[in-house]
Amino acid sequence: MKLYIETVGCQMNELDSELVVASLRKEGYELTHSAAEADTILFNTCSVRQHAEDKVYSALGRLKNAKREHPHKVIGVLGCMAQKDQAIIFKRAPYVDLVVGPGQLHQVPSLVRELRVEGAVRLQRMEVSLGRKEGSRAQIERSHESFDPLRDPAMRPTPHQAYVRIMIGCDKFCTYCIVPSVRGPEQSRPPADIVAESRQLAGEGCREIILLGQTVNSYRYREGERMWRLSDLLAALHEITGLDRIKFVTNYPKDMTNDLLAAVRDLPKVSKYLHVPVQSGSNAVLARMKRGYTVEEYREVLERTREWIPGVAVTSDFIVGFCGETDKEFELTMDLVRESRFKNSFIFKYSERPGTKGADLFTDDVTDEVKRHRNHELLALQNAISEEDNHAFLGQQVTVLVEGPSKAAEKHSEGEAHPAASSEPVQLMGRTHCDRIVVFDGNPRQIGQLLPVTIYDANAHTLFGEVVTRQGGAELFSLSLPTKV
Ligand code: SAH
Ligand code: SF4
Ligand code: F3S
Repeated sequence: MKLYIETVGCQMNELDSELVVASLRKEGYELTHSAAEADTILFNTCSVRQHAEDKVYSALGRLKNAKREHPHKVIGVLGCMAQKDQAIIFKRAPYVDLVVGPGQLHQVPSLVRELRVEGAVRLQRMEVSLGRKEGSRAQIERSHESFDPLRDPAMRPTPHQAYVRIMIGCDKFCTYCIVPSVRGPEQSRPPADIVAESRQLAGEGCREIILLGQTVNSYRYREGERMWRLSDLLAALHEITGLDRIKFVTNYPKDMTNDLLAAVRDLPKVSKYLHVPVQSGSNAVLARMKRGYTVEEYREVLERTREWIPGVAVTSDFIVGFCGETDKEFELTMDLVRESRFKNSFIFKYSERPGTKGADLFTDDVTDEVKRHRNHELLALQNAISEEDNHAFLGQQVTVLVEGPSKAAEKHSEGEAHPAASSEPVQLMGRTHCDRIVVFDGNPRQIGQLLPVTIYDANAHTLFGEVVTRQGGAELFSLSLPTKV
């Protein structure tokens, strides 16, 4: 039996897809890259912006004939859009068999089995969680089950890195955002489960784990008298033999506490890289977004972070063209980016989400043209800063965890055997401890290793380097230079 799966959205969705695939492999499925030859076709979806939804609805549209010709194919829509649109999906694409929200993904194998057994009998199944107003907090929490079964190492994008979920849901309710309604209430996983899962991953050869939560630094878990915070969890994970790097995303600015900064400073395995999205540089816009902090408070967080953790790389997200955003307000965002020197920023055009407070309270009144223009301008500014900061790495030695072939090498070898299977020289990519992307020539055997690389060129997004070898002058050269992480 063959399974085709397409995933859009954030790292949380990538992890969910990995787990769904692993659970279906236990049922005898193997993955295929062609929807045409698949028995089951799944879309793991995202609702954060309209564009992400449109992509899935048009992909579904293209399957209409396939389903008519092969009625036994199972077509399923999973994830955030399944939770948000529910039966609307059956209305828009009546040939869809299965709709499963992010809180019910553990049921996918049994649901698919059921649909296949029934064969020609046309069944449609939907499993979703309660909405945020459809029960008591405890009932709603229970309806969003965390899906974290035993991991299947073969299913990870790279065997040396893995995502580990430490919380589900979100309670911040920023007015533009759909996540709290599709992912449900904020719930932290027990530390013992997180440590056990990470230990298992390290045992399987994983060198880097990336802890996931919508507001990962809001992590709280009460165990008897003891309250576990993210800093406590980092200290516990740091003890795991075999792990070299621990990263975590995404941070909520207001929860950037000193205990966390101290943990990042003092625990060498924890990456000195923090994603702390600010969204806007205008207090009026931040208030409309209900982000819960002012620009002055964010500046204080940034200053404190840099004071406590010298050399830290900070990144951010921005939304341009939020309801009522004036030229003046946008200029304040430009000012903040100019002074903050983020390593990089993800910039999004505001996309109104039905059912959010933002859609109820405000008008989406910034034209798409203005949004596009602001997006462009902010990105150009950020790119100039990123490039400047990356140039500071020229001649420096960094330590790179090798992830795999670079994008260019991957394209070049499409259709050939996996590069790790050969020992031909190939262009590889990896990341520094600070999450900077490094591209260099190497050997597929080096995938999964931590390597010293000297940087000789850089642009806004990438550092280009050369592996430091033990023979020759390169080693001497590298010893004479300070090492940046
Ligand atoms: N929990 C994370 C990420 C949420 S989604 C956080 O709090 O930062 C990732 C990013 O998408 C957000 O940071 C925001 O910049 C953007 N985003 C969320 N809703 C959006 C919307 N309606 N339109 C445009 N961008 C949005
Ligand atoms: Fe959305 Fe805000 Fe929660 Fe992030 S913190 S997921 S932006 S509501
Ligand atoms: Fe999208 Fe859901 Fe993630 S809406 S951004 S996939 S939590």
